[in-house]
Amino acid sequence: MTGIICGTGSYTPSYVMDNNEIATMVETNDEWIKERTGVAARHIIKDETTVSMACEAAKRALADGRVDAGEVDLIIVSTISSNIILPCTACEVQKELGAKGATCFDLSAACSGFVLAYNTALAYLFGGVYKTALIIGSESLSNLTNWEDRSTCILFGDGAGAAVMKAGEGRTYLPVTYSDGMKGKALTCSSRHALADTCRMKDPEYYIQMDGQAVFKFAVKKVPEAVSEVLEKNHVEKEEITWYILHQANRRIVEAVAKRLDEPMEKFPMNLQEYGNTSSASIAILLDEMKKDKRLKSGQKIVIAGFGAGLTWGASIIEWG
Ligand code: COA
Repeated sequence: MTGIICGTGSYTPSYVMDNNEIATMVETNDEWIKERTGVAARHIIKDETTVSMACEAAKRALADGRVDAGEVDLIIVSTISSNIILPCTACEVQKELGAKGATCFDLSAACSGFVLAYNTALAYLFGGVYKTALIIGSESLSNLTNWEDRSTCILFGDGAGAAVMKAGEGRTYLPVTYSDGMKGKALTCSSRHALADTCRMKDPEYYIQMDGQAVFKFAVKKVPEAVSEVLEKNHVEKEEITWYILHQANRRIVEAVAKRLDEPMEKFPMNLQEYGNTSSASIAILLDEMKKDKRLKSGQKIVIAGFGAGLTWGASIIEWG
């Protein structure tokens, strides 16, 4: 018994902010941003929220998988940027879908969130606890971005991606996941609920702060290690892997991981040039894009790998259904 992805969906805001627009806010330019990150543009919410994007991506995933909302018995939303604290975002998705039988909860693990949501749903399906799961990554990082900080505001974007998983016959691959709270200082954002007065909203602590070089070094070391470990643990050769779908943070990180794994760049699809880093939504948005343009085919083995604040990182193998 395993969990098989049978439908995907995504939602990205229609408002596109390109690098030239960012250059009107902070001292930067299109060439620098593209060269250091690969990002050309990002989609930013206007009327949307983390909840509304999660709902839309979820509806699209159910439609794609031809799964009725009544069949869904688990909804997990990975987010660090919801517009609401209570109820959880997953319960709001449940309400919108009318998925009355679902157990719903949110998961917070930043840019590793989608991989952890996948692993969590997989464990429930493998164990026979649930039969149909909906996993969603939805983020409005623009709300947590300090638009006066050129070292971070160039990186992030908003969006949501979702996948429906059904219990079915097949092999379950064991994931590899790690956390290192001791290195948490490299990427932080304080809770706004702690704000005593709105004046403190100006405090940089309440926006994403990052030691960019430390995060970069962490990612290019730990991601290839996790990928190699997940292959070894499951006795899968890298030649068997069709795609490595990494969290879409930075083109240079993806290239460095490919190099360390000694695998061709063609196996590392990217869409970060259009969306920036959408945290836990990024892998799900890319999966949806690749399913829709038919790059994903039945039987392909895919590695998904996430990394980010915590620090957290991990990799899983998916056999496409
Ligand atoms: N535009 C122009 N110049 C910029 C700039 C910007 N947006 N941001 C920083 N700079 C400048 C710096 O001030 C510095 O100038 P100096 O040499 O005069 O001091 C110079 O560019 C180099 O800065 P540095 O921070 O060393 O750049 P970098 O090559 O490390 O690139 C990041 C910065 C953020 C792009 C890079 O560190 C990175 O991508 N890190 C990983 C971030 C990430 O992916 N985080 C999320 C993980 S989930």
